[in-house]
Amino acid sequence: MKSYIYHTATETAHALIKHLIAMMKREPEKTFYFAFSGGSTPSLMFDIWANEYKSVTPWMRMRIYWVDERCVPAEDSESNYGNMRRLLLNEVGIPDEYVYPIYGANPPEKEAKSYSELVCNTVPLWGGFPAFDAVLLGAGDDGHTSSIFPGQEYLLSSFHPYEVSVNPYNGQKRIAMTGCLLFAARKLIFFITGKNKADVVRDILDSGDTGPAAYVAHHAEHVELFLDDQAKGRGKAAI
Ligand code: 6PG
Repeated sequence: MKSYIYHTATETAHALIKHLIAMMKREPEKTFYFAFSGGSTPSLMFDIWANEYKSVTPWMRMRIYWVDERCVPAEDSESNYGNMRRLLLNEVGIPDEYVYPIYGANPPEKEAKSYSELVCNTVPLWGGFPAFDAVLLGAGDDGHTSSIFPGQEYLLSSFHPYEVSVNPYNGQKRIAMTGCLLFAARKLIFFITGKNKADVVRDILDSGDTGPAAYVAHHAEHVELFLDDQAKGRGKAAI
């Protein structure tokens, strides 16, 4: 597990974008398969990416998937696809056929099954499972990741690539990438910022089994953490 820590969320977002671009530059003939999480943290990265790195990103060699999605229509402000579409994808001219949204308006169980099939049929396999080149994850302050919430850890050992999960705080259904795909990825990159995430980051760094995010970080093979000082717990009063 390798950590990259920066003073601010903005600096962390810049570093992560440059990290992804450099990854693609190292293999100029390769098409890269990425899965993105949603929530608020990535919005900063999407906005910076569209405004400052559009011309230096090989969009035509990227295929865009999602880690998870809220079961809402794309037009809903809660939609992870809708958010990335608005902030980034509409601004950079990546062809629609390279973008594979989870359809949050579909019946959840049906969509989890059909998205699992789509990913299995379009993402290159490695060891029998679709292997994303990079899966970008966030972490909730309750320790969830990929919409796998505490108490729903069974999803970490599911062999269904995507399953329906439930946000326990509002009952909202979600489509979530499960452990079989998370652990098949060539690289997992956590992008976590803000002082409210300091406890979950400490769990990720120290323990490994206190919640879904910590478990995934400790049981995956290639994990990178992109953190700002606040998420790392720096700048707090010494105790
Ligand atoms: C989602 C995300 C989720 C996210 C964490 C952190 O759909 O909400 O994919 O797993 O990574 O909840 O969200 P924030 O970045 O908003 O704190």
